[in-house]
Formats: sequence, structure tokens, C-alpha cells
Amino acid sequence: MKTKYVPILSVVAILFVFSCNELAMCGEKKMSIKKQAFGKTEDGKNVDLYTLTNTNGLKAEIITYGGIVTSLQVPDRNGKFADIVLGCDNVNDYAKKSPYFGALIGRYGNRIAKGKFTLDGVEYTLATNDGQNHLHGGIKGFDKVVWNAEPMQTDKGPALKLTYRSRDGEEGYPGNLSCTAIYTLTNNNELKISYEAETDKATVVNLTHHSYFNLGGHNSGDILGHELMLNADHFTPVDKDLIPTGEIKPVKGTPMDFTSPMAIGSRIEQVQGGYDHNYVLNSSDGSLALAASVYEPKTGRVMEIYTTEPGIQFYSGNFLDGSVKGKGAVYNKHNGFCLETQHFPDSPNKSNFPSVVLKPGEKYTQLIVHKFSAR
Ligand code: GLA
Repeated sequence: MKTKYVPILSVVAILFVFSCNELAMCGEKKMSIKKQAFGKTEDGKNVDLYTLTNTNGLKAEIITYGGIVTSLQVPDRNGKFADIVLGCDNVNDYAKKSPYFGALIGRYGNRIAKGKFTLDGVEYTLATNDGQNHLHGGIKGFDKVVWNAEPMQTDKGPALKLTYRSRDGEEGYPGNLSCTAIYTLTNNNELKISYEAETDKATVVNLTHHSYFNLGGHNSGDILGHELMLNADHFTPVDKDLIPTGEIKPVKGTPMDFTSPMAIGSRIEQVQGGYDHNYVLNSSDGSLALAASVYEPKTGRVMEIYTTEPGIQFYSGNFLDGSVKGKGAVYNKHNGFCLETQHFPDSPNKSNFPSVVLKPGEKYTQLIVHKFSAR
């Protein structure tokens, strides 16, 4: 063989191997779970990274710090995989710089006004970390603790069971709370999260998941062209600090209306500060129902979100400002969006909102399904 062909043939060979790793077309893959070290927290705790791969080659990487989904690889309409969640490079960045990228959020996702609420006649004061309000569980919420992990092979796909015991008084909350979150990457191309929690004293619980998605790829710029559908005829208006006023208003005829698919950017200029609102889902009887559907026109990727919760926070990445970098990307304003299934913000202080109280002997449960496809 003439030596001048060797480099060309090597490139072809490398491309072939590469595409067979990348594409699900190269035969059925085995599901697997792999564990590796990710780093250490400032106080010396080991953090592990688990890689879940399903039979179609979808891959979710999850660390034990905050139960954070650090990477999620799904195919586009041509079978090309990309990582569709924003993320950081190491534990320290997740601890110090991340705006809750990919994390499990608790004990209370979203805001509690002035960090105060009264339960059974006792007033509780929580840690405040968002001006004078409490946000996403406080200064050291469930996103900043190391969870115990147990990998599981289930008949639906590879899974990771994470457990954490939040002690009585942590961040100001009453009661020891035992929490379980199970991530399953199903062979139907779903990332499922099922939560359970139990307490030994009456408390408030509102768990959620905080991935920032960009279905074009985490490093592909803004999400304003994504088309969003929210299965919600109403939303909860907020004051300037994003605390609900207590009203439940119809979306019809306003830029809040996503009842039929609309580009996120089409009316965002008319929404002060961008979208950061809780939507009241049309199905709120606790059964699993479609809450949201998002379509990215360039790649054809689709994500549907199903939940058992009554609300969903739609956040259009308004506070991203280029100061957080990760995985080779710089994250600017609107480079990712969050859809956080939840009970409504500030529910402990709003008697007309569905209750978030959990009592001893009761079990808190929640199921979130992110279903991926392409068209
Ligand atoms: C949630 C909140 C936003 C913001 C982000 C994190 O989505 O509703 O206001 O705090 O988390 O930056």
C-alpha cells in the first residue's frame, strides 16, 4: 500500500469505530452501570460517579454529591448523541458555582417567604439564602450533601438508588426526614426519578429535580427556539422577589400561555425578567400525567415530562450570565431551561395551595418521567 493512503485509511477506520460507539444502529447494546471516583468534598467525603447505560445506548451520569445528573446523552433524529444537560467539571464547582445544575432539591424546592412558616402552632425559621427568602432547601440543601448510593439492575433498565437522612433541625426544618430517590434509565428511553420520604415529626416536604436542559446540546447556545407545551391553563403570579401573591390566574391571552406549542423566545421580552413561574397543572389528582413537552427543531429531539405533582416551575435560565463554565462550555443567559415538577412555591404560607405537610406515619411520594424521542 502506498504510504500516502495510510493516513486516509486510518481516519476512515477511526470514524467507523467512533460512529459505532456513538450510534445505536450498530446492534443492540447491553445495559450497564459503571462506578468511578469523581472527587472529594471540601470536608473530605468521597464522591462517586455512576454511569447508567440503557440498551439503546442512552447514558446518564450521576454523582453522589447532590444526586446530580452531570451528563445525559440522548440521540437526535439522525441517531447522533449529544449531552443535553448543563454541568460543571468537579465537586468544588458544583459546591461553589453551580446554580443547582442537575441536582436533587430538598427539603423544600423553590421559595418560602422570609424563611418562616407555622405548623401545629409552632413558628419555624429556616436558613435564608435568596435575599430574605428561603430557596431550594437553604444554604446546604439536598443538592449539597453526599447521598448513599446503591446501583440496581431492574427489568426496566439500570437504576441508582440514593438515600439521605436529613436530621431534625437541619436548615431549620422540624423532624428527621428519611429520603430515597431512585433514578432509572429505562430501555424505553426515559429518565425516571421516584422519590419517597418519611418523617418522625410533622414537617414540610417539596422535592424536585433541577436539570438545565438544552436539547440542541449543552454547548449549543440559547434555548429560545425550543418549542414548549405546558399542560397548564393557570399559573401562580409572583411579586418582585418571585414569591407567589396567592392568586391563581388563567394563562389565556398572556405571554404565559403554552397550552399549545410555542417557541420559548417568542414572547419572553414581554415577561419581566424572563420565565420563572409555577404553572398549575391541569391534572392534579396525583396520578402520573403529561406536564410538559419540548421540541428542538434543529436536532428534532423531544422531551416529555410526566409527573404526579400539581405544579411545574418553568425557568428560562434568566440568571445564567457566563460566569459558570463546565464541560468545555460557557453558560450564558437562556443557555438552558428547567422544568421543575413541584408543589407550589411558598405553600406553607398559602392555605389555598395544596398542602405540603408530611406527618409521622405518612409517606411522601413523587414520580417524574423525562421521556426522550426525536422527530
Ligand atoms: C429556580 C428558581 C430560580 C432560580 C433557579 C436557580 O428555578 O425558581 O429563580 O433561583 O432555581 O438559579
